[in-house]
Amino acid sequence: MEIVSENCAYLSNMEVFQLLDKEKLVEHKHSNTATVAYQTLKYLEKTPCKAQNNDQVTNFLNAIQHYNFTKAEKLQLVNLRPTSIIEMQLIIEELDERLKTEEELENLIHIINRFFPESDSIKIMSFKFNFGESEQETDMPKITTNGMFRECRQHLYKEYSQRFDDFKDLIVGDIQLFYLNPLIASNRVEEKELKSLLESSDLKAGTYEGGFKVWECTFDLLEYLKDHKKCVLNKSVLDLGCGSGLLGVFAFFSGAKKICLQDYNSEVIEEFTFPSVHQSLAKCGDEAFLQFEFYSGDWDNMCVYFSELKKERFDVILSSETIYTVEYYPKLLRVLEEQLTPNGVAYFAAKTHYFGVGGGTLDFIQFIRNNSKFFATTIITNNDGVCREIIKISRLS
Ligand SMILES: C[S@@+](CC[C@H](N)C(=O)[O-])C[C@H]1O[C@@H](n2cnc3c(N)ncnc32)[C@H](O)[C@@H]1O
Repeated sequence: MEIVSENCAYLSNMEVFQLLDKEKLVEHKHSNTATVAYQTLKYLEKTPCKAQNNDQVTNFLNAIQHYNFTKAEKLQLVNLRPTSIIEMQLIIEELDERLKTEEELENLIHIINRFFPESDSIKIMSFKFNFGESEQETDMPKITTNGMFRECRQHLYKEYSQRFDDFKDLIVGDIQLFYLNPLIASNRVEEKELKSLLESSDLKAGTYEGGFKVWECTFDLLEYLKDHKKCVLNKSVLDLGCGSGLLGVFAFFSGAKKICLQDYNSEVIEEFTFPSVHQSLAKCGDEAFLQFEFYSGDWDNMCVYFSELKKERFDVILSSETIYTVEYYPKLLRVLEEQLTPNGVAYFAAKTHYFGVGGGTLDFIQFIRNNSKFFATTIITNNDGVCREIIKISRLS
């Protein structure tokens, strides 16, 4: 192949997509080319480019002419269709200097929304927990919705009788914690829909919420608790959206008097939380288990269930990677209102922003401030890799 003029123009994702689609390179006789083309098409199909056409792109570029963006920046705007300020900051160099007023920024977001309206494929693809890392190494679950939410129910620990030997261990300060290899745990799921979601590592609201793994913000919150054990000393603690239950178990070793572990999926509680907690507490006497309770189900349903049981409220709520979608914020607010004691404190560890869905610590703090009698503030910021934070929430006095 002869290259006539190297890098004479950048191709947008839309152009590559159209070319691959038109040329049907997938059917190319050389199998390597076909594989590359197929994988590229498969990837692009889930990005904003699928819903774009030439006219939209041309009109968009005309509409943003006065911003004097570089070619590379324009390309990124078209390809990524950013719709929040934080996404913009990642794309446009010195954004604050170049777009001086909030109005200018809002106008840019408005132009993007006008020329590239949101489509379902965008919603699905751009939900990334670990923005910037490759799909193979980490999680890039897609999220879709389902109107049904699971009932709340208690799981009795005595029901647990499995034995495993593939545990991962973790030393936090002077405490050793264990969790079952998530692969082993999730392989034990038999229910068909959940099994196939687990194979593709997708989240489906109302079906699977990501409990079969240990998400990175858990480690941030463990690190924080290690230096602030007093937060949980003699307290009743709710590990909200617990997955492995590491936070609750750490609270136990730090002197919490009661620990309630809650996950959306009953399968997570039975196949992942139970064995993990069991292994971490192996050296404690049987009485240790009496301090623990386990529940599965949706947060709204949990509030109804707990109120029917007249269950006591919690002094502390610990939660990691549970604020990834703004749609659930009203449910989370209800949990805070109904489950936290008057002087109670909640700690949420999460990414600053979960791309595409609009959730993250920034949105959650804003939501709490706008909608409730709670005060929310960031206590830890971690800029190493994807930006993550721990936020602390307490009632306004
Ligand atoms: C991404 S996982 C995080 C698991 C764990 N906290 C960690 O950091 O490893 C999100 C968790 O939030 C919980 N969750 C999400 N939506 C929920 C809902 N509507 N009702 C109850 N729990 C929910 C699930 O239990 C799920 O395990």
